[in-house]
Amino acid sequence: MAKIVIFDTTLRDGEQAPGFSMNVEEKLQLARQLAALRVDVIEAGFPISSDGDFTAVETIAKKIKGPVICGLARMLEKDIISAAAALKPAKKKRIHVFISTSDIHIKHQMRKTKKQVIEMTRRGVKLAKSFTSDIEFSAMDATRSNPKFLHDIFAEAIGAGATTINIPDTVGYTIPAEFADLLDGIMENVENAKKAVFSVHCHNDLGLAAANALVAIQHGVRQVECTINGIGERAGNSSLEEVVMAMKTRKDCLGHTTGIKTSEIYKTSRLLTSITGISVQPNKAIVGENAFAHESGIHQDGVLKRPETYEIMTPRSIGLTKTRMVLGKHSGRHAFSKRLEEMGFKMTKAQMDSAFERFKRLADMKKEVYEEDLEAVVGEELNSLKQTWHLEYFQISTGNQTVPTATVRLNTNGGAKQTDIETGTGSGPVDALYHAIEKAAGIKGSLRHYSVTAATPYKDAMAEVTVQVEFDFNEGVPVRGRAASTDTIEASAKAYLNALNRALAENAGKTPKKASRRKTATSRSKKK
Ligand code: KIV
Ligand code: ZN
Repeated sequence: MAKIVIFDTTLRDGEQAPGFSMNVEEKLQLARQLAALRVDVIEAGFPISSDGDFTAVETIAKKIKGPVICGLARMLEKDIISAAAALKPAKKKRIHVFISTSDIHIKHQMRKTKKQVIEMTRRGVKLAKSFTSDIEFSAMDATRSNPKFLHDIFAEAIGAGATTINIPDTVGYTIPAEFADLLDGIMENVENAKKAVFSVHCHNDLGLAAANALVAIQHGVRQVECTINGIGERAGNSSLEEVVMAMKTRKDCLGHTTGIKTSEIYKTSRLLTSITGISVQPNKAIVGENAFAHESGIHQDGVLKRPETYEIMTPRSIGLTKTRMVLGKHSGRHAFSKRLEEMGFKMTKAQMDSAFERFKRLADMKKEVYEEDLEAVVGEELNSLKQTWHLEYFQISTGNQTVPTATVRLNTNGGAKQTDIETGTGSGPVDALYHAIEKAAGIKGSLRHYSVTAATPYKDAMAEVTVQVEFDFNEGVPVRGRAASTDTIEASAKAYLNALNRALAENAGKTPKKASRRKTATSRSKKK
């Protein structure tokens, strides 16, 4: 029985998916929880890709103890040097270098020969090795590559010092039986295979990412790359919770273990959701709202008599407990901060004070404050670090026989400067509100995504609004904003201002330009 290395790439592959970008503070929060979950490796980012990524990797390398901290680099000198610099403070560090190996990528994207790819790999791995002994090499698009070429390049990479060889199914193309054959061929034909740990990184385009990762374990792979809630490019990556719980639940069949503290899974999933504002679908395996809900009478009857009749794992094993109501208006600061800590949030004193104020205001309005409400409160607090614009006042007039009209006043400079009262009309109250805000702040924005969810299933629920907005001063870069309130319209206004404040903070010191970044807007969400 082997211990499978769990390599978490939520902060790199996950974070680069549209809508999931996180700031340094948010990444650090999540990295802390990943350490509590006891992942073996945290891929903290792609340092050369942006200043923000560099700082995030460096900060995580400085502050997170326990897991190996990893940074991604193309097979280029400048990337490898940047990854090494960002990882410098880490006690345990890994540089992850990658290059494409499929004919289609080599010919049409890289415009190189296979010989050049091998030569770049040899040089890149050697350079990375001069900074740390722990080197991972990935053959991008491996599952559409010529197997013989893979054998050759893996042997070269190991010869140059790679200690982990990763076989990505970059486009989510392979199916389990075919993947098993590819892996058997690699284990048999790479002459120095015994000197490295083999790894897989599966994308979920055909919904097979977890299945492919599990079959890989059965065929000799000892590291799985995955993400919390399965987030990642396009349809995402293998989801950590699915792979880990499949291994735990079907140990009889899969036969290996992980070091994951599974009772931290639910908390980690919820933390990611509250940071990004993007929920998992209710039927998501392991962490979805319905994953342990038994609706049919026959099933309920069975579970009440003996849970194993219809439950293959216990909710408790992923840290899901039945206590829903947590705090009320008489709860004190101590109980509040203790509950937040238990939920995985680590906050500074100033953040805690401000979050407590928000909680008190909420508890005055709602009799019962649930964990989901607290997540909304804290999510809002973590999002509101740099507030240039505040909502001071708003009023809405709407109806089925009237033109929706919004009136707003904003303030800035910590309340010292007020805008004029501005009015906007629109196709609905949110449209009107956003027109009024734009007039007051003197900007224009295109809404790329708008969603509203109720934190709890009750009529007095907090509305959590998430938006993505592309502002005129920052074209091509949609910025996320979110806010929560028991008033949906107020939450909508604050989410829009949160996006604006973030965009302004990200642009501070830069000349406004038509920016183009690796995060492109491919959101299918409807425009409002
Ligand atoms: O999907 C992929 O190929 C990747 C590599 C960088 C490992 O994310
Ligand atoms: Zn990937």
